[in-house]
Amino acid sequence: MTRAARSVASPNVVCIEDFRPIARQRIPKSVFDYLDGGAEGEVTLRENCRIFNDVTFRPRHAVDVGKCNLRTRVLGFDLALPFMLAPVGYSRLMHPGGEVAAARAAGRAGTGYILSTISGHKLEDVRAGSTGPVFYQLYLMGGRGAAEAAIDRARVAGFNGLVVTIDTPVSGIRERDYRNGMKELISGSAFDKIPFLPQIFSRPGWLIDYVRDGGLPGLPNVIIPGKGQMPLVDINAALAESTPTWADLKWIREHWKGPIVIKGVLTADDARRAIDEGVAAISVSNHGGRQLDGLPASLRALPEVVEAVKGRIELLMDGGIRRGTDVVKALCIGAKAVLCGRAYAYGLAAAGEAGVDRAIEILKTDVERTLRLLGCPSVAELDRSYVNVPKEWEAA
Ligand SMILES: Cc1cc2nc3c(=O)[nH]c(=O)nc-3n(C[C@H](O)[C@H](O)[C@H](O)COP(=O)(O)O)c2cc1C
Repeated sequence: MTRAARSVASPNVVCIEDFRPIARQRIPKSVFDYLDGGAEGEVTLRENCRIFNDVTFRPRHAVDVGKCNLRTRVLGFDLALPFMLAPVGYSRLMHPGGEVAAARAAGRAGTGYILSTISGHKLEDVRAGSTGPVFYQLYLMGGRGAAEAAIDRARVAGFNGLVVTIDTPVSGIRERDYRNGMKELISGSAFDKIPFLPQIFSRPGWLIDYVRDGGLPGLPNVIIPGKGQMPLVDINAALAESTPTWADLKWIREHWKGPIVIKGVLTADDARRAIDEGVAAISVSNHGGRQLDGLPASLRALPEVVEAVKGRIELLMDGGIRRGTDVVKALCIGAKAVLCGRAYAYGLAAAGEAGVDRAIEILKTDVERTLRLLGCPSVAELDRSYVNVPKEWEAA
C-alpha cells in the first residue's frame, strides 16, 4: 500500500467527512475553501446535505437478499455503481494527478467520469486514462469557436456524451475565495499576491508537488480560434460573457451527435424544456450550492422534476451526496444515478488518486450495506416504497 493510500485507509478515513481534515492539512486554505465552500451565506450548500435527514427509510426486514446488484445503465452505458464523478473544475490544483487521476479511479471502479471545461489536463489524456465512460462538461467560455473546437476534440478522443451546464450565466459569489485572495493568487501581480502567500508556504508538500507539476495550469481544452489557449486568469469574466441558452443547444446538437445531458435543472418547466430540446438526460442540480444561494436543495427539487419528466428521459441528481444512504434515497425518489462532486474531490485533495479510490470504495460499500439493510436486492428495484418523504413533498 502506498503512503497516500495508507493515509486514507481505515481507521483514518471511515466516511467521506473524514477526508476533510486531511485535505485541509495538505492543501492551502485558498484551494481547500474553493473546494469546500459555496455561494454567499452557503445556505443552499448546507441544505443540500441536511435535506437527506428529512427522508427516512422503510425497510423490509427478515429477508435475505444475498449479494446486492449495484449495476445501472446511464445513457446506454453499463455502470457498476449507481453514482458517477461530477465535473469539478481546477482539480489539478487539488493534486497534480487532478482530472486524469479521478477519471482513472472512476474507470477502475466501473463507473463514469465527467470532465469539466475548467480542466488543467488535456481532454485527450483524461479520456485515455479511463477504461469507463467519460463525458465532457461544456461551458461556452471563450466563445462558440472555442466550444466547437472542444466538442470536435472530444468526439475524436472518444468521449461518450456531452454535459451542458446551464446554471452559470455568471459565476456565483463564493465569499471565501475573495477573502483568500484566489483571484490575486491566480491572476494578480507578484505584489498583489504577497498578502496571500503565507497560507501557500504553510503547505510545503503541496507547494513542491505544484512546482514540480509546472505551476499554475492553463486551460488546455479552451482554445480560442486565432488566439490560442485561454489562460486560467479570469474565469468569472469568461463565464459572464458566455451565458448558455436554450438556443445554443441547437448548434451544440449539430456538432455533437451523441447523448447530451443538461445539468442544472431544478423546476418542472426547465425539465420539460430540456425534453423538448431532445436531450437524453438531465441532472437535477444547484451546482453544489456554488451559484445562486437560496435555491432549494437538489433532493427537494427532485420530486417535482420526476413528476414532470414521467420517465421520458433519464434523471440524474447531484448535490450533497456524502454517504451511500444519500445515494439510495435519491434513487428511491427517482434518480437513475447520482453525481458526486465534493465526496471524491475531498479524497483527491487528501491523497490524490488513492483518495479518489477510497472515496469510491466508501460510497460503494455504503450503498451495498444500505441495500441489504433495506432488504432490497438491487438498485434497479429501489422506489418510493422504501422511503418516507415529508407530506409536502408529495404535492409536487
Ligand atoms: C470545486 C468544485 C468545482 C466545480 N466545478 C464545476 C464545473 O467546472 N462545472 C460544473 O458543471 N460543475 C462544477 N461543480 C459542481 C459539481 O459538478 C456538482 O454539481 C456539485 O459538486 C454537486 O454537489 P456536491 O459537491 O455536494 O456533491 C463544481 C463543484 C465543486 C465542489
